[in-house]
Amino acid sequence: MSQSGPFHKGELEVQTKLGVSDIARSNGTVISNRIPGAALNFISQQSMVILGTTDINSRIWSSVIFGHTGFIEALDPSTVKIDFSNTSISITDPFWSNIQSNKQVGMIVIELGSRRRLRINGTVEKISEYIYHIIIDQAYPNCPQYIQRRHILRAKKGQTQNKSSDICGCNLNKNQHNIISEADTFFVSSAHPEQGNDVSHRGGKPGFVQIINKNQLRIPDYPGNNMFNTLGNFELNPAAGIVFIDFINKKVLQLTGTAKVLWYIENTDMETAGTLRFWQFDIESWRESNISFDIEWEYLDASPHNPEVNKSDAANKALDLRVDQIIQQSNKVKSFILKSDETLPEFEAGSHLEVTLSDDNALIKHYSILSNPDILTHYEIAVLEQPDSNGGSYAMHHDIKQGDILNCSMPRNEFTLYKKAEHSILIAGGIGLTPILSMVENLESRQQSYELHYSARTVSELIYKDRIKGIAGDKCTFYTSADRDSRLNLDTLLSKPKTATHVYVCGPIRLINAVREISEINKWSDTNIHFESFGINTINDNTPIELTLKRSDIKLAVPTDKSILDHLLDNGINIAHQCKRGECGLCVTTVLEGAPDHKDVFLNSEQRRNSMCICVSRAKQGNLTLDL
Ligand code: FES
Repeated sequence: MSQSGPFHKGELEVQTKLGVSDIARSNGTVISNRIPGAALNFISQQSMVILGTTDINSRIWSSVIFGHTGFIEALDPSTVKIDFSNTSISITDPFWSNIQSNKQVGMIVIELGSRRRLRINGTVEKISEYIYHIIIDQAYPNCPQYIQRRHILRAKKGQTQNKSSDICGCNLNKNQHNIISEADTFFVSSAHPEQGNDVSHRGGKPGFVQIINKNQLRIPDYPGNNMFNTLGNFELNPAAGIVFIDFINKKVLQLTGTAKVLWYIENTDMETAGTLRFWQFDIESWRESNISFDIEWEYLDASPHNPEVNKSDAANKALDLRVDQIIQQSNKVKSFILKSDETLPEFEAGSHLEVTLSDDNALIKHYSILSNPDILTHYEIAVLEQPDSNGGSYAMHHDIKQGDILNCSMPRNEFTLYKKAEHSILIAGGIGLTPILSMVENLESRQQSYELHYSARTVSELIYKDRIKGIAGDKCTFYTSADRDSRLNLDTLLSKPKTATHVYVCGPIRLINAVREISEINKWSDTNIHFESFGINTINDNTPIELTLKRSDIKLAVPTDKSILDHLLDNGINIAHQCKRGECGLCVTTVLEGAPDHKDVFLNSEQRRNSMCICVSRAKQGNLTLDL
């Protein structure tokens, strides 16, 4: 790998322009010319792939292919086989003519239900009428940000539901306008003039793709992995191909055209998540087709990272809320009743407010709204005082007084109830009760079946006990972890997976991880398990770690107040990373010796056998040897 890593001139120019060269170089270490071992099986389990190709007029197209599991597989770390014989692709898709003249393809293999994706760039080779191989130039996993979860309920071999048909044109019509304005997901293919095509996912709240006119779109460029593969390609070659999937009406809309980056648009912090950056897409032509494959999706939930959409100023409005009452709920928990002179905006169960607690906006904390979503006279939040907090809980407990005005965001929901569940199991630990309590209120008022399991360390720490009893009655069971006979037994609770039952857990990371591990052992679908994970990045482990980096032959002592990742970065050792919360998986590292103390929410139990997220996880016995 050269000093610039795996990046071409356009990518390097963008990274330099935006001052992220170091982090890009570090993140670029995930790019390899071989498929990572853990991804080999992943590929053969998928039913969806997006391919990016270039036509003889240098226009770029993205094509979505649906197939039954096994239609795509990794033959070895350098070769992927695709069997097109029983897939959704029609003979008129531009893919077929494009690969006659240009063998370079970009590809993304994606599992929307688990937010996992793998990007592969390479060249295509025809083996037989329907069998093609992709010979890999680059392969790397991507972080799961901005992916809305959709579970494939059915992708059956040999059955079609929609008749294949396609229409083409230049100006967007009303139907296509609707597809784009409702879209929360699309894929974009771009290409370096020599190094070939690349496909990338884009996601956001419906409306995040702005339709400027019938030939032009504007798309916010959210913060990502800082490698800028797509924008780097645009620097050298403006051609691009976009594909939208209409998951409800089972249609695909492919657009080809050119892209131009708008580097700085004032007053767009909220809609660009702070980048102030967009790209404009000028449409040359479109192709709309039915998905000719028997496939059925179930929408699960939106990405918790989606920025707000500038549909109207209302969505981004700040709320100044008056602290009407402060109530001591337990030794360490205070609740706050927040009111406004105006009617409060509606919110969904599981929503939170972002409360700004410092004048310089440096201290913004998320607090779940625990009150009833049907009652909009006030919002109620509760705050646990944490000795190791960075000032948020201290300020709420000691500085905020009755009558003060709190600067809050509009309610935002990153922990949504799945409305079609036949039964919901709600599990709350300690202060994690707060979003769960609004779910209880909501399920009660909708008369939907649920049960609540609420655990705290001691009886006195079971906040809102009487209120819960009044709402949920015998649907609620209380537990105390300090009392051996009164502990929540997750093995029993989650022993029998049910497809129509959804599980929600909020609380300490060890509770979230226990639910994930036990549900995985008992074969629950991970699409039925929902958890609230923000705020898990507190390092409160006071055991130092003796760290050995085997390949580099380096030994380091990681202090108690620093993560392994931060300590490596501070010592000039570049490691791919992004979220630093154990969510994105970019910092996953192979463990050669020692027992990790996993604190992430990314890895499943099989992956945890030999790898860890070094941004949050620690060592059980104080020593670790990593494959670095
Ligand atoms: S940086 Fe995201 S999981 Fe570690």
